[in-house]
Parts: sequence; structure tokens; C-alpha cells
Amino acid sequence: MTEIHRDFDPREFWDLTAERFGHDPLAVVIAPTGTKIVNRIRDFFQEISLAPFLASLQGKLVLEIGCGTGRWLTRAEDHGVKIIGLDLSSAMLSLAKVRLLPRKFMLINADLSHIPLRPRVLDCVLSVTALQHVIDQNQLVSAISEFGRTLRPDGAVILLESASDQQKGERVTEDYVTVIRSLESWKRLFEEQEFSLTEVRPVNPSLGAKPLDILRGSVLKHSRFYSNQLKGELVGIRRLLKILWDMTSSVLAVLSFPFDFLLREKLPSLSLHKVMVFRVKQAKTW
Ligand SMILES: C[S@@+](CC[C@H](N)C(=O)[O-])C[C@H]1O[C@@H](n2cnc3c(N)ncnc32)[C@H](O)[C@@H]1O
Repeated sequence: MTEIHRDFDPREFWDLTAERFGHDPLAVVIAPTGTKIVNRIRDFFQEISLAPFLASLQGKLVLEIGCGTGRWLTRAEDHGVKIIGLDLSSAMLSLAKVRLLPRKFMLINADLSHIPLRPRVLDCVLSVTALQHVIDQNQLVSAISEFGRTLRPDGAVILLESASDQQKGERVTEDYVTVIRSLESWKRLFEEQEFSLTEVRPVNPSLGAKPLDILRGSVLKHSRFYSNQLKGELVGIRRLLKILWDMTSSVLAVLSFPFDFLLREKLPSLSLHKVMVFRVKQAKTW
């Protein structure tokens, strides 16, 4: 764990993210420092990847962990899913209440490691880029145990999270509090709690982002450029760099969009984000 993450308070971080970036519906839940076009493209790939899974849950009771401002609650309901949202951040849930109007959903303000529901009531637990932000491994283990407790014996956990094929173990990003886990790490974590991985689908190879990822991983590694972007408004040379960076990443994302779309299934290992389905292997007695 790095210096940035040692004093990390998730509730404070997500409340602050909601307050600072809540005016932009995608930035607040995808990438606060990303441009509108890049976030829109990411949202598009996430939606087409999850749509078949949401359609398969018609009539089922689903809990979305880390529902944020409710992006997936309305989409799931459009597929006939009965969905409940849970989030640690009251500021995110306040935004959700307004954004979801006139629809109404049951929203629970709680930590994912303590789900205030009775055992075996859920058909599915869904999480979209929420578990990847949990840096405390014990908290994640408790959360998976809670999934096992609240799911019916034939239940499933559907995740859309970063799951790398290109690394071993885990890595915490410097710029944004994300734990990049390998697919193997996810598998191990869930298998330890009697779940088995039954399906993996790539989300987006993001070919255009690769050159910038390399630059960020090498040249800009120690510049704290990204973490500074999250802390406040940039000034002077940092602001200029941010404008250049945003322009380059937007152009590359747009140019690579058709290739990403066509090659999505053919280049699964290039997709950092994946949809993973875990099923209850053996129901425990609670
Ligand atoms: C990147 S946002 C994604 C929101 C939503 N899933 C979406 O895709 O639009 C991550 C969300 O997870 C929530 N979250 C983070 N840690 C959590 C925890 N320990 N318990 C519950 N929610 C948490 C945050 O408050 C935030 O709303």
C-alpha cells in the first residue's frame, strides 16, 4: 500500500467525489478526471457488455453493491429486474434520489461488508466498478461472505471490474484509488468462499488508450499528475498539460472506437475490465 492510500477513508473519498463531480453524471461514477467523450465511450462498452446479463435477470431480485448515482438501477429496471441499490456514500445516494426521479428505488446506505438483508433473499448481487475500489482485503473478504449469506442457493454474483490478464496478484494505482486485481486473484478470493467462476467476458480493449497508459506507467509514474487532478483545480503548466492530455486521449479514444468495437471479443486479454459471473458452489447454513 502506498502513502496515498494509508489514510484512505472510503466514505470521505466518495462523498467528496459526489460533491465535486456530481454535476457530470458520468464523470462522478466512471472517471472524474476523464473527458466527456472518453467517459461516454466507456459507458457505452459497459452497457453493451452488461445488457445480456441484465436481460437474463428479468423478474429476479438483485442487489447492486456500490450503486453510486443509480446508473444501473434504471437500466436494470428497464430489463424487468427488481433492483435494490446499496452504497456507502450518502452524498452519492442523495444524487441518485434526485437523478432517478420520478422512479423510486429502495436505496440502502451501508458498507458492502455489512449488508442489512436477511439470509438467502437475493437472486443476484451486481457490482460495477465498485469492488475494485476496496483496498482493504479483509473488507472485501467480508463482503464476499455477505454475498454468500444473502444469496439464494442458486444465486449469482455478476461483476464488471478491472481484472487483468497481464499481471500477477494485485496493484494499487497511484492516481485513483483502484486495486487492479488479476483475474486469478478474483477467482481465488471467490473460490475461498465457495463460489465458482462460470463466465468471463471482455468489456473493451481500449486500443487508443494503450500509448497513454504506457506513458503514465513509465514517464509520469512519479509525477503525481493524476492524484493532483483529483485534489483540486490545476493551475499553470499542470493545467496546460491536462488540456493536452485530455485532447490526446479524446482523439485516440474516438479513432480507436470502431476497432475496439469490432475486436472486443477477439482480444479478450487486452480488456482490463471484464464481466465475471460467480455462482454459489455450495450453500452454507446461516
Ligand atoms: C466508481 S463508482 C461506481 C458507481 C456505479 N456502480 C456505477 O457504475 O455507476 C463506485 C461506487 O462504489 C461505492 N463504494 C465504494 N466503497 C464502498 C463500500 N465499501 N461499500 C459500499 N459502497 C462503496 C462508492 O460510494 C461509489 O458510489
